[in-house]
Amino acid sequence: VWSSVPEAPPDAIFQLTAAYKADQYEKKVNLGVGAYRDNNGNPWVLPSVKKAQAALIADESVDHEYLSITGLAEFTAASAKLILGADSAAIAEKRVASVQTISGTGANHLGATFLSKFYDFSKHGGGKREIHISNPTWANHKAIFNMCQINPVDYPYYDAKTVGLDFEGFTGALKSAPDGSVFLLHACAHNPTGVDPTRDQWHQIADIFESKKHLAFFDCAYQGFASGDLDADAYSVRHFVARKSISVLVCQSFAKNAGLYGERAGALHVISATPEQNKAVFSQLAVIQRAEISNPPAFGARVVTLLLTDPSLWAQWQKDVKEMAGRIIEMRKALFSLLTEKFKTPAPGGSWDHIMKQIGMFSFLGLSPKQVKMIVDEGHIYMTANSRISMAGLTTSNVEYVASWIDKAARS
Ligand code: LMR
Repeated sequence: VWSSVPEAPPDAIFQLTAAYKADQYEKKVNLGVGAYRDNNGNPWVLPSVKKAQAALIADESVDHEYLSITGLAEFTAASAKLILGADSAAIAEKRVASVQTISGTGANHLGATFLSKFYDFSKHGGGKREIHISNPTWANHKAIFNMCQINPVDYPYYDAKTVGLDFEGFTGALKSAPDGSVFLLHACAHNPTGVDPTRDQWHQIADIFESKKHLAFFDCAYQGFASGDLDADAYSVRHFVARKSISVLVCQSFAKNAGLYGERAGALHVISATPEQNKAVFSQLAVIQRAEISNPPAFGARVVTLLLTDPSLWAQWQKDVKEMAGRIIEMRKALFSLLTEKFKTPAPGGSWDHIMKQIGMFSFLGLSPKQVKMIVDEGHIYMTANSRISMAGLTTSNVEYVASWIDKAARS
């Protein structure tokens, strides 16, 4: 019965992890998947998370009952405050529908399904079921929207010549898209490029959203990773939500900033114009969620709730986030100075400054697929073919080895 099912290719990012694990080479390095590692290259259970876990295990009142369909109410309320701000007018005015999801992927999926059912694509965005996504973007975005019968179309974002933002191209696409188009925006620490608009550029982008009545679909997977400051990294989202006339959805993940990759703790926040609309939106999100997963998983959400609501865990978590962001920034500096001072490596766009300018977990080196293949095959350093590296995979012990292979490839 399955004779006509073609075998699918493996996932590009998780295939790298599998290849890395199977590799016996002593100096192998995994710069593929975006998962934080400590300076010994090991996964890091955040001290704040360890304490929260211990408190939950000791708490006899914690049971294993179902959560409600929309998740743990304390978790969704605290998560909304984290991303939208404790003083958010949208929250105070009861215009935010927050639903717990299977991390960021689940939030994107729930948001896409909601749009698919309730966004009137026949009247908005030129009558096409489309979402505009940055070129490039996280590979899973395309897959998720395709799955929900919304066609992903690229908008210009990354300029290979400057290894930076193609602001003209980006804003040009916003202006020329039909009114009411849906645009996916990375809230901070753009994946895969690490290239973010400045605050002033965000204001200009928001102006266009307002005048074109576009819908902003934010994906926020790295709050805290860009600057180490949870509020600063929420700037773009808060700015859009403060301009009441822009329709905003926000996908939120705690995989990276709480190191809870496997727990799948995340949320979708849909901001409405009125509390009445919000009530209806929330009820429909619950209907979708029931059909898809019934109820979200409890443990990760309970851990995050403690991080966000217990004063001493909140202080510790902020410290932990700073530590992760700080180590990544140190690795940027180390790689940059090795390439520019020790190896004097020829840079793809004429300079390696982009390594210092790019933000968050990833850096886009700007190397060709052939050069990347050489680094992977001969150097046993795993990275995606687009030359994205997870800065968190670098350590003080392997950064020189990695720089030496970037140097070899850049000269090849
Ligand atoms: C990544 O981009 O490496 C991470 O977000 C992991 C994933 O799910 O792809």
